[in-house]
Amino acid sequence: MAQPQRKLRMGMVGGGQGAFIGAVHRTAAQMDGRAVFVSGCLSSTAERALASGKELGLPERRNYESWRKMVAGEAALPRSERVDFVSIVTPNDKHFPIARAFVEAGISVVCDKPLVLNTEQARELAAAVQKHDVVFAVTYNYSGYPLVKQAREMVRAGELGEIRKVIVEYNQGWLATKLEASGQKQADWRTDPARAGLGGAIGDIGSHAEQLVSYVTGLELDALCADLTSFVPGRRLDDDANVLLRFVNGAKGILTASQVCVGQENDLRLRVWGAKGGLEWRQEDPNHLIHKPLGQPDRTLRRGNDYLTDAAKRSARLPPGHPEAFIEAFANVYNAAFAAMLANAGAKGGPRFDYPDVRDGARGVHFIERVVHSAAHEREKWTPARFQTGV
Ligand SMILES: NC(=O)c1ccc[n+]([C@@H]2O[C@H](COP(=O)([O-])OP(=O)(O)OC[C@H]3O[C@@H](n4cnc5c(N)ncnc54)[C@H](O)[C@@H]3O)[C@@H](O)[C@H]2O)c1
Repeated sequence: MAQPQRKLRMGMVGGGQGAFIGAVHRTAAQMDGRAVFVSGCLSSTAERALASGKELGLPERRNYESWRKMVAGEAALPRSERVDFVSIVTPNDKHFPIARAFVEAGISVVCDKPLVLNTEQARELAAAVQKHDVVFAVTYNYSGYPLVKQAREMVRAGELGEIRKVIVEYNQGWLATKLEASGQKQADWRTDPARAGLGGAIGDIGSHAEQLVSYVTGLELDALCADLTSFVPGRRLDDDANVLLRFVNGAKGILTASQVCVGQENDLRLRVWGAKGGLEWRQEDPNHLIHKPLGQPDRTLRRGNDYLTDAAKRSARLPPGHPEAFIEAFANVYNAAFAAMLANAGAKGGPRFDYPDVRDGARGVHFIERVVHSAAHEREKWTPARFQTGV
């Protein structure tokens, strides 16, 4: 008989009043009754942090006014009360010090992307995770969709043959105007290099695109050639990114990420072609996966059906036709990390669980760095191609 699992105790840094993704994390983590939210430092000012925690029903002694007090307060509690993990949902520049402090206290972490600001920080954090042997998940939530798992398993099973070409696009339009000038909270820090890091669109959503390709195809990136633009006058980070990709196996790819594509909302699409077929998936229509087998008509695979792979079936909750989407995919990332926590399978071993970890986060940070480097050295790589007839 299955043993009843205890609920894991969840803490959170960030995600207070007016924040975006923290509420998604709280909902996703608790969706299947495997975790309970017990502790937090939810905002950047003490006053707002305390008001946010009170509103969400945190007990007074575990509603902290600073993340440093939270680390100390939780570490001082007996193991049976201390948080099992902390979700970090602050702007990017705070991920590193907060994540490192919790890891060093022996507390598992679920951190949003991009992991940290540079490769040096990423390496330091990965080493700390290894040393303290905690679970460290990065919420590349698109890999939690059942049909993304289906796509990955089809590639792994060789159904597409050797992969030759990948096109991944993540287009949004919400930063087509200078929204940050209005003080809009999410636009404000995402366009500020001090808080967002080196990348604008390439860091914020290009990082998801990079991870989606890696997760589905398993391809290792060999080299890239990037073009970054800030279309909106006065903006200091890119709001549009176009990147050519070369993979170690010889496959080629194109990654595009933009936040100035007027009319686009969260249009993340992945297309993959191998010698024996192709696949297409869109996050705005996540319950369908199109498979194009060589020499045969296209077929549409639908979430929730018995013909799907085990991983795709296991990660669905509802029968086919009842839509599942963003929050369920997020919850799937959490559940895989929870399984690792309950199995005490930290960085040093144990069975592999299907969640993006600190190494995936570190690879993503390196990708952003290389894109920014390539774009800044464009004269070294672009061949002039403007044609004049001369007549
Ligand atoms: N995985 C996804 O799909 C996804 C989606 C959106 C955002 N994100 C990531 O999540 C993070 C947060 O993004 P957001 O849009 O929710 O930002 P946000 O601005 O809406 O919220 C950030 C929160 O962090 C708090 N905060 C800032 N400094 C803090 C500190 N020192 N201590 C405690 N709290 C602090 C702010 O007060 C705010 O409550 C970013 O890293 C972003 O890239 C991921």
